[in-house]
Amino acid sequence: MPRYYQVVIHDRQKNAVYRAQVPGDQYLLTSLEAQGIALPFACRNGCCTTCGVRVRRGEVYQPEALGISAALRAQGYALTCVGYARSDLELVTQDEDELYELQFGQYFGKGRVRVGLPLEED
Ligand code: FES
Repeated sequence: MPRYYQVVIHDRQKNAVYRAQVPGDQYLLTSLEAQGIALPFACRNGCCTTCGVRVRRGEVYQPEALGISAALRAQGYALTCVGYARSDLELVTQDEDELYELQFGQYFGKGRVRVGLPLEED
């Protein structure tokens, strides 16, 4: 029998607050969807950061969260698609691309961009 936790989610984009109970053995995103709470997602695999949230209170266990560094996890970010509640939680949806920029922004858009296929003389 799994342990259940209380979760409060502040959905900043929809200006809504959701409350739910989630089991500790099910991904947060899956469990919340099953209760009619639709949150952003894309890959559902812990890689793209679309489902990222700020953890305002509580602990999320997320060993499969490959899309965010340990440093960002320590700053309080979590991926709901591969995150499990380990305590009661208070979560806040991120700004669009907030976590993506923090995780990947330093690597993209810094080099020379050329339109089209590379030419031999390049
Ligand atoms: S949906 Fe892509 S990391 Fe969660």
